[in-house]
Amino acid sequence: MNEVVKNRIRKREFADSVEKTILYYGLDILNAKTFDEQDNFIQHGNITVKQHCMSVARASLKICYLLRINCDERSLVRGALLHDYFLYDWHIPEKNHNWHGFRHANIAFKNASNDFNLNLLEIEIIKKHMWPLTIIPPKCKEAWIVNFADTYCSLLETLYIHKNVMIYQI
Ligand SMILES: [Fe+2]
Ligand SMILES: [Fe+2]
Repeated sequence: MNEVVKNRIRKREFADSVEKTILYYGLDILNAKTFDEQDNFIQHGNITVKQHCMSVARASLKICYLLRINCDERSLVRGALLHDYFLYDWHIPEKNHNWHGFRHANIAFKNASNDFNLNLLEIEIIKKHMWPLTIIPPKCKEAWIVNFADTYCSLLETLYIHKNVMIYQI
């Protein structure tokens, strides 16, 4: 078997292990009707909020694996999946949608805590994912990873350059 084929297999296995970890830790979230409904709301470019949250979960795990960061994978996956669980279309101009960039992390936290049992790491991930807008920086590595993955995915989505980027991939 030549090196190109071996590399393809390695990449496939890596992507498969990321998908399996997301399913293993986030199955109840992925099965929730409200999580699915996020497909009705655009996040950036032509990407829905659900697609964006899935991508942030994948990118967070990939960063964790590639940099060999020892972290709480369960909290990382669940926090990433729920980090934008604000459940409205922020592009529609309504009074409640004002200051979306500053307010939606807390709205996502309130919605997520109503629908799921959150631990302290997951709360930190959701509440601090918009840092530096939240002023107080994240207090755990899991929140830093999701913060970085979110910024990275958002940039690729906004610029419509996500399709061929290995660490992103929908
Ligand atoms: Fe967000
Ligand atoms: Fe996000």
